[in-house]
Amino acid sequence: MDEISATDQKYLWHPLTQHYHVVQHPVIAKAQGVYLYDVQGKRYIDAISSWYTCVYGHCHPRLAQAVRVQAETLDQVVFTGFTHEPATQLATALFSILPPNQRKAFFSDNGSTAVEVALKMSLQYFYNQGESRDTLLAFENGFHGDTFGAMSTSGLSVYNGPFERFFLKVERIPIPTGENTAAILATLERLIARNRIAAFIYEPLVQGAAGMQMMDAKGLDAILRFLRERDILLVADEVMTGFGKTGAHFASDSIPTQPDIICLAKALTGGMVPMGLTTCTEAVYAAFLSENPAKGFFHGHTYSANPIACAVARAAIELLKSREVEAGRAWIERQHSRLAAEIQTHPKIAGVRHSGVTLAFDLRGDAPRYGRLRNAIYNYFMARGVYLRPLGHTVYILPPYTISEAELTRIYRVIKGFLSSL
Ligand SMILES: Cc1ncc(COP(=O)(O)O)c(C=O)c1O
Repeated sequence: MDEISATDQKYLWHPLTQHYHVVQHPVIAKAQGVYLYDVQGKRYIDAISSWYTCVYGHCHPRLAQAVRVQAETLDQVVFTGFTHEPATQLATALFSILPPNQRKAFFSDNGSTAVEVALKMSLQYFYNQGESRDTLLAFENGFHGDTFGAMSTSGLSVYNGPFERFFLKVERIPIPTGENTAAILATLERLIARNRIAAFIYEPLVQGAAGMQMMDAKGLDAILRFLRERDILLVADEVMTGFGKTGAHFASDSIPTQPDIICLAKALTGGMVPMGLTTCTEAVYAAFLSENPAKGFFHGHTYSANPIACAVARAAIELLKSREVEAGRAWIERQHSRLAAEIQTHPKIAGVRHSGVTLAFDLRGDAPRYGRLRNAIYNYFMARGVYLRPLGHTVYILPPYTISEAELTRIYRVIKGFLSSL
């Protein structure tokens, strides 16, 4: 075993990993563009943009430059009691692309904390107005992160079993399929009559960790309208879908009923450094304004609005809006559409779906999320220089927007080879 692996075995505890058997992870030494390189020099196409973060490719020179310049100017300062230009410039850039009802931005460190902030904001929004609302609403099989509020609203019990008895009170509805909207609205009517629901948290259009489950946009809009009419806050978790994954800048852009609160992270900084953001409407913000200090929002993280993260996020938004990236996203979508048409009748495939740069298909038959089939698929692709993380029997890709024709063709060829091998 090489020295890095030996030291890793000695000291490190990896996320979402059962270490009972010795697991030797590939040692990644560098990354550039769409490629990850291991210490032996073998390269892998990052077909999932490192969990949907590095969507402009790895080590993008404009993002690296933003880090360099900011690191030599202002590295970190407490954001409670100070402000700075990287934060105000990021806010200006962000609000120029967010749905127009979003007015205020609250910083944190990652997707889970962005969700945690949104849930606390929703509960305190009603508390500050003298209303005690103690229930949240979420989709079945959603994923919102690993902190307690986020886990409570997530519906993937594979991650959450030991903690369930400590959870917040959450009611769940299925995702809209196009055929079940009336039934969902009837369920909502019952749930609202029996519970004091503060907010509905949802991954708009695509449930990522559930296996890129895609939903009916009209059905989602009907649900959102129904809830808004009943004074329930709408919290869009765009941690996965944000910054161009579904075609538009945000999945919420494709749905007429706009959220009250939006959670952002992941591609916010193009994968360069961690950052979370929760944005809200003027009405949500106004509920916290009072002569009574206790009505303020007393939540804060040490690295809130870290200037380096702010500078990178601003540079990433410039990239998102660039003609090259817009054209890349549209081109990937067209290629995905062609591939989907080509493989949808394959006898081993149960369903192909795509939205923007995201394409997913399920193999026939069910399989555990971390079982043998999942490992076999993963190993097949890694051996051929393509990095992806299947979810049970679901294979998905979400490549960087800057991927070349040759690189995307390579991923598709390995997918087709894999299907032929079954
Ligand atoms: C929709 C969604 N929300 C929240 C999270 C949690 O983000 P993080 O891993 O940065 O805590 C994720 C992570 O995959 C996600 O997909």
